[in-house]
Amino acid sequence: MSEKMCEGRVCIVTGAGRGIGREYALLLATEGAKVVVNDYGGARDGTGSDQGPAHEVVEEIIASGGKAVAHVGNVSSLADAQTMVQLALDTFGGLDVLINNAGILRDRMLFSMTEEEWDAVIRVHLKGTWAPSRVASEYWRNRAKAGESNDARIVCTTSVAGIYANTGQTNYGAAKAGIAAFAQIAAQELVRYGVTVNAVCPGGLTRLTEDLSFSDEMLARFRPERVAPAVVWLASAQSAGVTGQVIESSGMVLGIAEGWRRGPHIDNPPMDPREVDGIVRGLLAEAKPRTTMADIV
Ligand SMILES: NC(=O)c1ccc[n+]([C@@H]2O[C@H](COP(=O)([O-])OP(=O)(O)OC[C@H]3O[C@@H](n4cnc5c(N)ncnc54)[C@H](O)[C@@H]3O)[C@@H](O)[C@H]2O)c1
Repeated sequence: MSEKMCEGRVCIVTGAGRGIGREYALLLATEGAKVVVNDYGGARDGTGSDQGPAHEVVEEIIASGGKAVAHVGNVSSLADAQTMVQLALDTFGGLDVLINNAGILRDRMLFSMTEEEWDAVIRVHLKGTWAPSRVASEYWRNRAKAGESNDARIVCTTSVAGIYANTGQTNYGAAKAGIAAFAQIAAQELVRYGVTVNAVCPGGLTRLTEDLSFSDEMLARFRPERVAPAVVWLASAQSAGVTGQVIESSGMVLGIAEGWRRGPHIDNPPMDPREVDGIVRGLLAEAKPRTTMADIV
């Protein structure tokens, strides 16, 4: 067998009790990583909690000869993020990779969405990306300041719902587009400390996609385990130097999502608002069409 890609690397995967995160944890362990399996085991909408899923994945990894430990904290709590990173340090002696994957859904059209539906989704995705990243990045910065070298990774999770804009998901899409921006900005801040930060845009049949309808071809190919190879590569030393990117990964596609860029523009904007309409409509006619949800299914 070829060399293991993540031999000895210590990886935290949040939301790894089910779905896509579970596949990351299993493949990372197969590739030699020591895995902290975080999952607080809530329902699809984030309500409730259950320690079972995280422990089951850990048992599965250990039964296959791998190394793993469960953490059942909530990613959107800074205190829980601290115990998560500390568990990696205490159990495995370090931390090389943080994969921010945990997520929930509370879909609703904007005009009907409740404050709680907005807050819950923003809290789990956006704050739940920030809190573990905040703690892990401080650990890596302290190491660098002490003269140690890092070959570390943060992998965040965005979504086509955010970067290509899906109707009915202003909360989720805004959080996910925010996470794509978070990854690019954190990449710039952490490059000097030996940490790359990228975002993955995954796709796979899980309980989060059970409301959607798929063609037979998609049902056959859109499996959560198909997301994991690209994420294991990102977690490995092989992805050195790749940072600030958004990478689409599923059984249907492996590709680079190209982000915002300055398009057609003029350099001397008018002072008279009456002139704006003609100018902006002319620029819009020149602009490249965006990728939409209709283009990707
Ligand atoms: N499935 C897809 O096609 C798809 C597409 C785009 C993006 N995503 C994203 O991929 C990630 C994984 O989704 P999935 O489809 O595997 O969903 P899933 O529901 O199968 O798994 C998500 C896991 O995260 C855990 N979790 C939720 N909130 C948590 C919290 N606060 N703290 C700790 N754990 C928590 C859940 O208990 C669950 O086990 C999510 O960020 C999701 O938004 C999925």
